Amino acid sequence: MTTLSAVQRAVIGQPQARIDGPMKVSGGAIYTSDVDLRELLHAVPVCSTIASGRIASLEFAAAEAMPGVHVVLHRGNVGRFYRISGNSMDTGYVDEARPPFEDDVIRYYGQYVAVVVADTFEAASAAAAAVKVTYDVTAHDVGEALAGDGEPKVESERGDAARAFDAAAMSIDETYVTPVETHNPIELHATVAHWDGDACTFYETSQAVSNHQGTLMQMLGLPREKVRVISRYLGSGFGGKLWMWPHSLLAAAAARYTGRPVKLVVSRKMMFQNVGHRPVTQQRMRLSADADGTLTSVRHDFVNHTAMADEYQESCGEITPVLYSVPNLRVSSALARRHVGSPTAMRGPGAVPGLFALESAMNELARKLDMDPVELRLKNEPRVDESTGLPFSSRHLTECLRTGAEKFGWSQRQPGVGAMKRDGLTLGWGVGACCWPGVRFSAQATVELRADGTARVVCGTQDIGTGTYTILAQLVAGETGVPLDRIEVALGDTALPLGPISGGSAVTASVIPAVLDAVRAAVAIVTARAAALSESPFSGAKAGSLAFGAGRVHRKSEPPQSGVPFSDILKMARMHAASGSGSAKGGFDDPLKKSYSVYSYGAHFAEITWQPEIAQLRVSRVVTVIDAGKILNPRAGRNQIEGAVVMGVGMALFEHTMYDPQNGAPINSNLADYIIASHADTPALDVTFLDHPDTVFNEIGARGIAEIGLAGVAAAITDAVYHATGVRVRKLPVMIEDLLGERSEARRDG
Ligand code: MOS
Repeated sequence: MTTLSAVQRAVIGQPQARIDGPMKVSGGAIYTSDVDLRELLHAVPVCSTIASGRIASLEFAAAEAMPGVHVVLHRGNVGRFYRISGNSMDTGYVDEARPPFEDDVIRYYGQYVAVVVADTFEAASAAAAAVKVTYDVTAHDVGEALAGDGEPKVESERGDAARAFDAAAMSIDETYVTPVETHNPIELHATVAHWDGDACTFYETSQAVSNHQGTLMQMLGLPREKVRVISRYLGSGFGGKLWMWPHSLLAAAAARYTGRPVKLVVSRKMMFQNVGHRPVTQQRMRLSADADGTLTSVRHDFVNHTAMADEYQESCGEITPVLYSVPNLRVSSALARRHVGSPTAMRGPGAVPGLFALESAMNELARKLDMDPVELRLKNEPRVDESTGLPFSSRHLTECLRTGAEKFGWSQRQPGVGAMKRDGLTLGWGVGACCWPGVRFSAQATVELRADGTARVVCGTQDIGTGTYTILAQLVAGETGVPLDRIEVALGDTALPLGPISGGSAVTASVIPAVLDAVRAAVAIVTARAAALSESPFSGAKAGSLAFGAGRVHRKSEPPQSGVPFSDILKMARMHAASGSGSAKGGFDDPLKKSYSVYSYGAHFAEITWQPEIAQLRVSRVVTVIDAGKILNPRAGRNQIEGAVVMGVGMALFEHTMYDPQNGAPINSNLADYIIASHADTPALDVTFLDHPDTVFNEIGARGIAEIGLAGVAAAITDAVYHATGVRVRKLPVMIEDLLGERSEARRDG
């Protein structure tokens, strides 16, 4: 049970406009590439035009002689970079571990081989194009068909999946493939590096300033206090901006070399080459069941591609052991090296491609059993997390399925292929469940109650566009009654108390305990000071019924409503401004995970329309129900889930980074040829949040929502495609050719 006070209830769980909205829409918000400093220079990288080989020669004299050019940096003059030790989220994590220009070896198309520094972006671009590089080319492999290198690794196992599969009445054995997808936030990656003596300030497009600082200090060989990273506003990131990429170091080196601040903005083309992507995944699913639909085994064997020098794993099987009750299960993983840049986390890493496979397999099994796919899921609902035996902190997947079915009108479903029509169009209906782990990281926050009646809350986390600024203000408002528009929030700076990465949908659950601690500490100080003053012989004020003691000051995580009316706290704060600090612990070794299985859940119901005469397929509506605990700001929260569902439409129907087999280049590396779902592709959206606060996780009961909305959408859509057309697409995205029965495997496997 959550026990929100009346003042909390007035702001928490209420739809709030983003407090940073006016700054953004009026152009007042300074994004990284907007940063302008005196004497600013511009850097433009030179990218390799082969995917595998060595640099044979680099001719840059002509480029360096061009107007406005200060220097061409290359392996010979860039200066020293170091590899980070440990590569851990505690000290500094990076997906591409090789510092730029470390050797002459080319391992992917687009790898940086030099960087031009000039007075203007135009001069630097022109000179970058004039740098001549020759290569000793060796054979590359960017193929999409994957066989794992070496033995698969067992990720999770219980019972005997192989035996149960062989003995089963009903089974399916299918392979699902998801392509390379590229993060395409509107804001390009950018760095502005500025040295002041031996200290460097970085304005960065970073979802994790503190990790960025940890990485940069190691790779530049500087103490922590000499590196400051600032990321105040982000035009989103989708995971691509979680970890540092080599251009940050190039900007630092260029600024170090020239003694002037340097801006480096990654181009849209480089976004497809140099800053990560979701890798190709190939997932073999073997499911078996009794005739009544009781699952008897699940096997999930997946492989993803990775770069030649880095081992990124797309954890496709992470959710599989948890989602359904099944006595026999085996999940295994493998990697296949390709000549591509390092993959990285992309919205819902692991779960998003993984649930395309698992949920598609469940839908196929339901068809084979002649069973409603919602019923099949309800039938296999577990009582505990069968991978660990632990209880769920809070799980309402069956309510998501039932509520979604009700809102969608699922009872009207006629399951036959092509059986449903509306306005001359064939309808297809499909369902997919979704799930994402509840994660929280360590966080610190400071809250100041100021004499002018305003408050300030600071935390070194970031707002990637999802509404973090606003929820911090809501948390402070709920404890003090200070209105949202009188609360200043500062984020995105390593000079602030340590904040969590904006990743893993973890910020909200991470900051709740830290901010509540901080604001309560500030309130306690204010009230204690007021009480002390009222007891002083020199004070004319009456203590009245206010009974505070200094002992309250350091008590942590008290329930709200200390007995003091908020109006009194505000009055007291006018005389006794105070600042309080709070902190909370978390991480992947969170001790709570030894006692509870913490996940969010949801269900998507999708409708497509199909017009075979002109081969037109549209996603017409999606009903989504999410169980993510308490939603602090349902307005921003709904936006996140809506955006995720639209991204799911893109995943199902459009997104596919293609590599040119000739030279290994990501060839559709622009927003005209890489198709993402746009407004015109957006179906009617209906998002519902169940309100079951997860108070095991934190006192407000929020788990976090960003990534879950994308998981399961593609499986719901492809099942709807099957329902309408009779074509089962197991390789994303769905192509018109698939639906016309002219699928060319040669083309798809490129
Ligand atoms: Mo998310 S892929 O953890 O930014």
